[in-house]
Amino acid sequence: VITDLPQAPVLTPTEINRLGTAFCTAKILMSALELGLFTELANGPMTETELQQVVGLNPRGMRDFLSVLVLLGLITTDGERYGNSSSAALYLDRGKAEYAGGFLERANHMMYPAWASLTAGLRTGAPQLVGREDQEAAFAGMMANPSHLRRFLGMMDALNGPLGAELAAKFDWSGYHTVVDAGGARGNFVAQLLRAHPHLAGTVFDLPPMAEPFAEHMAEFGRRATFTGGDFFADPMPSGDVLVLGHVLHDWAPHQRAELVDRACQAVNPGGALVVYDQMVDDQTPDIWNNVISLNMQLLTPSGSEYPVADCEAWMHAAGIDNVTAISLGEHDTAVIGRKPQR
Ligand SMILES: C[S@@+](CC[C@H](N)C(=O)[O-])C[C@H]1O[C@@H](n2cnc3c(N)ncnc32)[C@H](O)[C@@H]1O
Repeated sequence: VITDLPQAPVLTPTEINRLGTAFCTAKILMSALELGLFTELANGPMTETELQQVVGLNPRGMRDFLSVLVLLGLITTDGERYGNSSSAALYLDRGKAEYAGGFLERANHMMYPAWASLTAGLRTGAPQLVGREDQEAAFAGMMANPSHLRRFLGMMDALNGPLGAELAAKFDWSGYHTVVDAGGARGNFVAQLLRAHPHLAGTVFDLPPMAEPFAEHMAEFGRRATFTGGDFFADPMPSGDVLVLGHVLHDWAPHQRAELVDRACQAVNPGGALVVYDQMVDDQTPDIWNNVISLNMQLLTPSGSEYPVADCEAWMHAAGIDNVTAISLGEHDTAVIGRKPQR
């Protein structure tokens, strides 16, 4: 009998049930976002009847739905009318630049249905995207569908914006002039770097359909920001002093991650740097959210997952990168940074 394993505090049955039904409150928030409730309330407080008409809801579940949102601190009420809480007014109104609901909008659309099949995913190791057998066709379909692409880009921006601002401050950019973001989507990460460092020019390398969203999103930077369309498994990446691979490797199988790091290294100018960031998993500093996101990658992609920091360091060393160090970025990400020797 094993008696010496470490123990966690005893949870009460109520706490266990609350843990197991947290998906209900999560879905209430995601549905409120999907319905545009907070965006409508940004126009001013409304009564239940007004909200019902504006948002298009059936009266049956309305009161309970609103009551939960009040108790979660997302909306407020004086007993007559409902309005946004300060958090919702700041972050959940689609009309604001600070809008942070992009991740949850896509989570509602993709993650929530996939997680309903977690048990099957755990048994089979197969992705569980509902109704989408062919993952590549699903991705191509998403890229070709403007509203799906907008939701995808909103999610990326919500995640990578704060990370870009932090790397702009934490990394010494003074000796570098060009930065390439491979798999950089519409450029939101690079935008943070260019904003903070006027001497930098940035290039995003991504699939060709990203050209238009990039042009729109990066117009303020003029010629300082350029886009190169291509496939990072088939085409050479554009060269630059610093090359970034962010939230890219977790989409692919381990041998493909090593290949991408090698291809990225080839594009780094001698003396330049390679930066890889992801929500890497680390037994030394466990992070429940990173394991959750790793499972999420397993449910949404054929062979993706998060990976240990040590694996990333090994891919970099194998590609000829040295002086490899790891720093934390945001709440959950790790950036592994290395230098390409001068010669
Ligand atoms: C998960 S997103 C990461 C976006 C951004 N770097 C970030 O940190 O939010 C992965 C990006 O890789 C791009 N991508 C996927 N397959 C690609 C390929 N074969 N060649 C180039 N880019 C690709 C996608 O279009 C997408 O923008």
